[in-house]
Amino acid sequence: MKNLIILAFFALFAFACSSSEGEKAGSEPTAEAPKVDGEKIYKTYCVTCHGIYGDMGASGAFNLKTSVLPVEERINVITNGRKAMTPFKDLLTPEKIKAVAEYTLTLKQ
Ligand code: HEC
Repeated sequence: MKNLIILAFFALFAFACSSSEGEKAGSEPTAEAPKVDGEKIYKTYCVTCHGIYGDMGASGAFNLKTSVLPVEERINVITNGRKAMTPFKDLLTPEKIKAVAEYTLTLKQ
């Protein structure tokens, strides 16, 4: 009888462990979709011309500190490019373009 109780306890313990682990592994990718970090994208793709503060102006790049372009227009410029600026539609998803466009707004003075 005592053995049975111990066995039951272990069975319950093992069940509790496996179920909570299963839940964790299963929910991770769905519950927390990878967050798009506009700053990281900017520092990867944009600093070469715009500089870390947006005012470097390499290859005639616009000064993002003084740019008054609304976010929809920025998305358009980033997606399709403009003059010396290369389009990013093949490099970045629309979600990432939106994130980086929003980040450029924070460079404004
Ligand atoms: C190859 C150099 C280069 C890179 C890389 C580059 N840009 Fe540009 N960008 C430019 C140039 C040049 C212009 C001005 C285009 C023009 O004269 O019409 C510009 C213009 C812009 C504008 C329009 C500003 C305004 O007021 O009209 C935005 C917004 C912008 N860039 C954002 C970005 C972002 C965000 C990235 C990174 C995803 C990026 N750029 C990467 C060169 C670059």
